[in-house]
Amino acid sequence: MAKFISRLLTFLLLAKLTVQQKLEPIVCDCGFTDENNNYWSNVWHSDFTTYQDSIHLDNNYVVSTFTIPAKRENSLDRVFSKDNADILDGHLRLAVTNDNGDIKCGSISTSSQNFLYGSFRANMKITAVPGTVSAFYLYKNDTSEIDMETLSAIHDPWQVYLSVKPQIYNANGSAAYETLRRYTEPMNPTDDFHEYRFDWFPSAINYYLDGQLVETITTNVPSAPGRVSFNHWTDGNINYSKGPPTESAFLEISNVTVFYNTSSESSLGCSKMSAGCNVSDIVQRRILPATSLNSNYTSLYTSSSSKLQATTVLIAACILILILVQ
Ligand SMILES: *[C@@H]1O[C@H](CO)[C@@H](O)[C@H](O)[C@H]1NC(C)=O
Ligand SMILES: *[C@@H]1O[C@H](CO)[C@@H](O)[C@H](O)[C@H]1NC(C)=O
Ligand SMILES: *[C@@H]1O[C@H](CO)[C@@H](O)[C@H](O)[C@H]1NC(C)=O
Ligand SMILES: *[C@@H]1O[C@H](CO)[C@@H](O)[C@H](O)[C@H]1NC(C)=O
Ligand SMILES: *[C@@H]1O[C@H](CO)[C@@H](O)[C@H](O)[C@H]1NC(C)=O
Ligand SMILES: *[C@@H]1O[C@H](CO)[C@@H](O)[C@H](O)[C@H]1NC(C)=O
Ligand SMILES: *[C@@H]1O[C@H](CO)[C@@H](O)[C@H](O)[C@H]1NC(C)=O
Repeated sequence: MAKFISRLLTFLLLAKLTVQQKLEPIVCDCGFTDENNNYWSNVWHSDFTTYQDSIHLDNNYVVSTFTIPAKRENSLDRVFSKDNADILDGHLRLAVTNDNGDIKCGSISTSSQNFLYGSFRANMKITAVPGTVSAFYLYKNDTSEIDMETLSAIHDPWQVYLSVKPQIYNANGSAAYETLRRYTEPMNPTDDFHEYRFDWFPSAINYYLDGQLVETITTNVPSAPGRVSFNHWTDGNINYSKGPPTESAFLEISNVTVFYNTSSESSLGCSKMSAGCNVSDIVQRRILPATSLNSNYTSLYTSSSSKLQATTVLIAACILILILVQ
């Protein structure tokens, strides 16, 4: 019996060490650094190309099932349906569907509502079907919001609408430059996946396309924590989304990476690492601990090292028992 336990423990220990050696795990107790050398305490990473199952099973996201009533005459309700968010061919798809005039939209949001400053990135492919809005945004409420929106009806050239809320309006009712920029996309956003990104700091929001800084907004920068959302919608408004589309339209997302802080961060430890971990560490999945609710879906990392300490204690206990049993 003692021999059996001893062999079992040896096997478990070796298995554990082999796995760890293969992954060369690191504990990011010094946080995470982005390309501009900002330090953040947390990382959120969803790689839809390796998802095991439905988006509906990932507790880190909520699939929207609400309706936004029509805001004007001659515009439609925005009905967000559970059925309009799915994973297909390694991409998250948010659909705007038109079933004989029955228009449905697709949306997901993070379960966490505690993103307070950070670098928010999503690789997205916009639909070529005119009449929808593809939105990647940070939302607390209608007066605390950061948006990146691409309108599929406006493609000559393609433009991304970069805004913050509350928005400022000119005397004639048009949106003011201080809180809304229209930036001509240098690429065709329907031909491939492109990175949409906004870096949110207390005094400024920097917007990026494929890693290039394109605009900075410093007016009405939100200061309250919020959640990250993706909406694919139409309301038929002739002055904005246009549409509705006459056929199904899909916004596709391949991955989401967010470096961020929350409303309750303690200072970074930096005892195991002397610098922050980076994107390549995340993509190679070598970071411990990953505190995701379901590791087959989204991975969440924090700069805390408590879980690794638990693993270390477990290994030490195995060794001790081995010595005693022998
Ligand atoms: C939105 O949230 C901000 C920050 O907490 C708050 O100041 C503002 O009053 C809220 N606005 C609405 C419309 O609830
Ligand atoms: C509205 O006012 C803004 C700012 O004065 C101006 O740039 C814009 O051209 C005006 N738009 C129209 C439709 O008159
Ligand atoms: C995200 O997806 C794009 C292509 O869609 C890929 O080039 C990029 O390396 C991925 N990034 C991460 C962090 O997974
Ligand atoms: C579109 O804009 C025009 C001109 O500003 C306005 O008269 C009309 O009511 C708007 N339509 C909608 C649906 O908002
Ligand atoms: C994020 O929080 C950490 C820990 O408090 C802090 O060291 C870091 O400066 C914060 N990042 C930014 C960009 O403010
Ligand atoms: C990313 O961090 C790892 C160590 O965590 C380091 O070996 C690598 O050089 C870093 N890469 C970049 C691009 O800084
Ligand atoms: C992850 O996926 C694997 C393979 O499909 C499955 O065996 C495992 O139970 C899943 N883990 C969780 C936490 O759902």
